Parts: sequence; C-alpha cells; structure tokens
Amino acid sequence: MTQGAPFRLRPPAPPPRASPPDLFGFLSAARANPLTTWTRAHYEKPIVYGKGVMGRVLVVNDPAAIRHVLLDNAANYRKDDLQRRVLAPGLGEGLLTAEGEQWRLLRRTLAPLFNARNVTGFAPIMDEAARRLVARLLRREGRVRDAALEMTRVTLDVLERTIFTHGLDRDPDALSRAITRFFEAVGPIDPLDVLGLPDFLPRIGRIRARPAMRFFEEVVNELVGRRKALIEAGGNAPRDLLTLLLEARDPETGEPLDELSVRANIVTFIGAGHETTANALTWTLYLLARAPDALARLVAEVDAHVTDAPLDPATHARLPWLKAVIEEAMRLYPPVPFMSREALSEDRIAGIRVPAGTLVTIAPWVLHRHRTLWKDPEVFDPERFTPENRESIDRFAYLPFGAGPRVCIGQSFSMQEMMTVLARLVRSVSFELAPGCEVAPLHRVTLRPDTPVLMRMRARPDQAARGMT
Ligand code: HEM
Repeated sequence: MTQGAPFRLRPPAPPPRASPPDLFGFLSAARANPLTTWTRAHYEKPIVYGKGVMGRVLVVNDPAAIRHVLLDNAANYRKDDLQRRVLAPGLGEGLLTAEGEQWRLLRRTLAPLFNARNVTGFAPIMDEAARRLVARLLRREGRVRDAALEMTRVTLDVLERTIFTHGLDRDPDALSRAITRFFEAVGPIDPLDVLGLPDFLPRIGRIRARPAMRFFEEVVNELVGRRKALIEAGGNAPRDLLTLLLEARDPETGEPLDELSVRANIVTFIGAGHETTANALTWTLYLLARAPDALARLVAEVDAHVTDAPLDPATHARLPWLKAVIEEAMRLYPPVPFMSREALSEDRIAGIRVPAGTLVTIAPWVLHRHRTLWKDPEVFDPERFTPENRESIDRFAYLPFGAGPRVCIGQSFSMQEMMTVLARLVRSVSFELAPGCEVAPLHRVTLRPDTPVLMRMRARPDQAARGMT
C-alpha cells in the first residue's frame, strides 16, 4: 500500500464494539444505525462465523473467499430474504431484486443499455445537469447549503433526463420529493425483517411509503404509455433509457420486456442509481472540504484540463486525481455498505463448512476498513487509488460496485456522472464546511450523512472574472 501518505485526515466513523450486543441491543442498534453493530473482530479477522438472530451468519472479509461467493461459485448464492425484503417493496421485480432465470433474462436484455457507447452518449446530458447545478449554487452566492440535498438534486436531474429526456411536465420537484420520501420511509431496517417474520405482518415503513409509491407508479405509467404510442406511430423518439428499454430484446429469444418489467426497471434505475451516486458525491465533497491539500491538487488538475467545452470520457482520462479522490471517498463511505447472500446448498468457504441456508454477508463498510487489507484504514488518502498504486489493490478487497455476475450495471454511468459533476463544480465553485457542521455516517439502505452537510459555496474568486456559467 501507499508509503508516506501526505493526508492524515481521519473522518468520522463509529468505533468498533469490543463484543457483540445481545438480542435487544442488536435489534435497536440495527434500527438506529447498523454501522454500530460491527465488532473489533469483524475489522480484524478474515471470517467471522456466528449464530445470531438472523440464524447462521458468516461475515467474509477475505478477498479470495469473497471471490468464491460472488464469482466462482456465485450460482450457489442467491440474494437472501433480508436484502430482498428491504429492497423489493420499492423496486418490484426489477434487475436489482430478481433471482434465477428471471434475473438472467433481465441482465442479458438490459446489459446493452449501459454499454460504453450508450453511456458516452449520455455525457452531454450529464454535463448540462452539472452546469445547471453550478448555476444554482452560484445564484445566491455565499449562502449556506446542504451539499447532500444539492447532490441528490443533480443525480435526480441526470436520471430523469437520461431516462425520460424531457423530464416530467408537471411540477419538476414532485418526483424528487416522492423518491426522497419513499426512501426515508423504507430506509430504517425493520426488526420484523431482521427476524425474518412473514410478509403479512405490516411494516410501518412500508405503510408510510405507500403514497410515494403510488405517485411513482402513476407518473411512470403515464410516461411509458406516451412513449410507446410515439414509437408505435413511427415518431422520432429520443435515444434515452426509456426508448432503449422499450426497444430492448432478449438476445436469446428476441422477446421484448413486458410493460410491468419496463416499469419495474425504470423504478430500479432511479432507486439504485440516485441515492448511491448522491451519497458518493456528498462524501467526496465533504472529504475534500476537510482535506485542503487534496482539494488544491484537484483544483490544479481540473484547471489544467477542464474548459467550457463539453466534458467527455477523453477529458476524464486526464483527471486521474479526481478519479482517485472519488474512489477513496467510496472506500471510506461505500454507498452500499452491506451485501448479503444465502447459501443454497452446503459449501466450504476458506475451509469452513457452510451449511445450506447460511447467511453470507460481505460488508464493504468493514472490508474497506479492514486492518489486514489496508494501511491506516481510517485515513483519507487518495494516493491509494492513483494509477501507480491502484493495481496493488485486490479486486475483491474493494467493492463499492460489488463484483461477479451481479456487479452494478450502472458502474460506468455513475463514474462518468460523478467525474462530470465534480469537475464542473470544482472548476467554478469554492466550498467550505459551515462552522460547527459535524456529520457522521448513517447506514439506511445506503450510507448517508446523519445530518445536512452544510457548506458555504461561492464562485471561485480567480474564476469569477471569466464569467462562468
Ligand atoms: C456510486 C453509485 C453506485 C453504487 C456505489 C452502486 C452500487 C451497487 C452495488 C454494490 C451493487 C451490487 C449489489 C449486490 O451484489 O448485492 C449494485 C447493483 C446494481 N446497481 Fe448500482 N450502484 C451505483 C449506481 C448505479 C446506477 C447509476 C444505476 C442505474 C442507473 C445502478 C443500477 C444497479 C442495478 C440495476 C443493480 C443490480 C444488478 C444485478 O443484480 O444484475 N447503480 N450497485
């Protein structure tokens, strides 16, 4: 790993527990913030095997063993009920929650939507959304803003326009509000789910989320219906994700997706793509605001390569420090802090017998801070991810986007989006944390800050004269 790291920032994280909590302690900690359930052993041992409220649980931090579960023997591990129960109420049978043959069909049908050509084609939309963000931030300069809210706005803007091109005709903030409310309602992990109690027992979060879900469905139905009619009438449909979804064909059977599946996957792209990316952006800004050296190096890099010309992948290739900063931010604050699988039949993982039904958990939050895998794991040090150093990181020790056949389908989409947003922002805006703003990581479905990330943003004094957008 990196020698002589120049940055010594140790950003906030709950301290590991000395020993596991009892049942009541576990359930209340899991509801309040699951990050506080991890013990010292999890951060130090390659594998922790135990029996708890969730049955037999294996926490795997050994890269070779993770490779076995996510890649080599992936067919023996399905997304477990806990993960599906937490995600499925909002996302229906979309790609994220589907299993078995249904998942295979969806994955091969949807993979081309996110190929390099299509993602590159979205670059102008992302650039325009980033410019709109900068304009918004500079409209009332110097005002204290919640960076998390601003990052949520820009990621929704990108998703709305890459999926629907023209966005929603009605109140443009209504969709963002519904999505935010929905995730707030289903976000806390319900003790009934942890205990595996049957679905007919009502979960309070689900009940509260119903109006937001209904609103979602109405809007999406309307947009899908209109677009289908346009395509059928031979109209000139925009090349956005909605058109790509409606035109997608299973490469093996030539079949299109049915309408239910089109809807479920639109909601999945929004659900899986907006909060994850918004959180990664927010934590990156937060870390940069606290690490002036890393920020100064980034400003120099951006100023050397980013102009008013549209941002594209060729420009991104000239911004290795920006990429390293984002990757280090996702190491310390992985937007998906926890993944889990259930063993379908008996297996051996790193020599340990794993009976069928065992819950196998891979927690990027713990893995990325594991004492045996990272030097000074709590320290923010983007040097780890510069091109010279990155190769020494095991593929299965760093999993912000997962790995294996179920790796994130939106990985290059969101990397391109984050590079674009941050490059535009850093080029034009100076930002600092508001005095007294203290945030801590909170594990809901994703890893978010526990309070607004208050920042004062203004035009960079050295750029103002250039008349930035
Ligand atoms: C920083 C941003 C993002 C992060 C950190 C992230 C992370 C992840 C992770 C860890 C998984 C694997 C989960 C598992 O194996 O249990 C995943 C799957 C997925 N992600 Fe992302 N994601 C991001 C952005 C996006 C975007 C922008 C989209 C879509 C537009 C998206 C769509 C999906 C879908 C559909 C899956 C399920 C894939 C499958 O099961 O075949 N994600 N993501």
